Amino acid sequence: MSDIRRYDELTNEPVLDHEYDGIEELDNPLPGWWLATFYLCVIFAGGYFLWFQILHDGNNIRHTYNQEWQAMEAKAMEAEAAAAASMSDELFAKQVNDPAVITAGKAVYESKCSSCHAPDGGGLIGPNLTDNHWLNGDGTPMAVFKVIKDGVMAKGMPAWGPVLSKEELSQVSAFVVSLKGTKPAAPKEAQGNAY
Ligand code: HEC
Repeated sequence: MSDIRRYDELTNEPVLDHEYDGIEELDNPLPGWWLATFYLCVIFAGGYFLWFQILHDGNNIRHTYNQEWQAMEAKAMEAEAAAAASMSDELFAKQVNDPAVITAGKAVYESKCSSCHAPDGGGLIGPNLTDNHWLNGDGTPMAVFKVIKDGVMAKGMPAWGPVLSKEELSQVSAFVVSLKGTKPAAPKEAQGNAY
């Protein structure tokens, strides 16, 4: 280098031509093999970035995230379709007329629902389930099923979908449908619209 002024007495290394408050710097170039490796890495990184992030949209974080998101959405849609298929109006109508289902549903009702709707469905905190008045939905079997599954959280009706098994849910729904038109001992006044 042209700016080498002198050689250091101790190390015999060349000293660079600048000095700050008495501090001087030896001219100690990095070994060639090290520099070569470094430059190769820089070139590789550039190429890698171009290939991975720009040209090929490689398996980067965004890509993985999108893939997982899509997979999750597909799964959720599948589950929803399966749930809808497992509970249709016809299937439900069959269950409503099946004494074994009604008996099983009655058992669920007695343990989970009668405290709020009275053992005979006449209503206590919750509305009368035997009349043709409905606060939620229009009283069709699927509407009854839906309100039991999703609840009316803000009004004090718990969502039973996450609590009961699928089977129990359809059994108790069928039982509630079968209550319609029965004569409870102390019916609560009608609430909601008549259907
Ligand atoms: C903690 C009390 C409580 C329990 C337990 C409860 N319910 Fe309810 N339920 C309510 C209340 C309050 C409402 C009225 C919600 C509203 O105002 O929209 C309701 C509404 C309903 C409705 C809709 C009635 C309408 O007119 O729209 C059905 C059906 C129903 N419950 C069935 C059930 C079944 C089946 C169970 C047991 C698995 C159950 N409930 C357990 C309090 C309860």
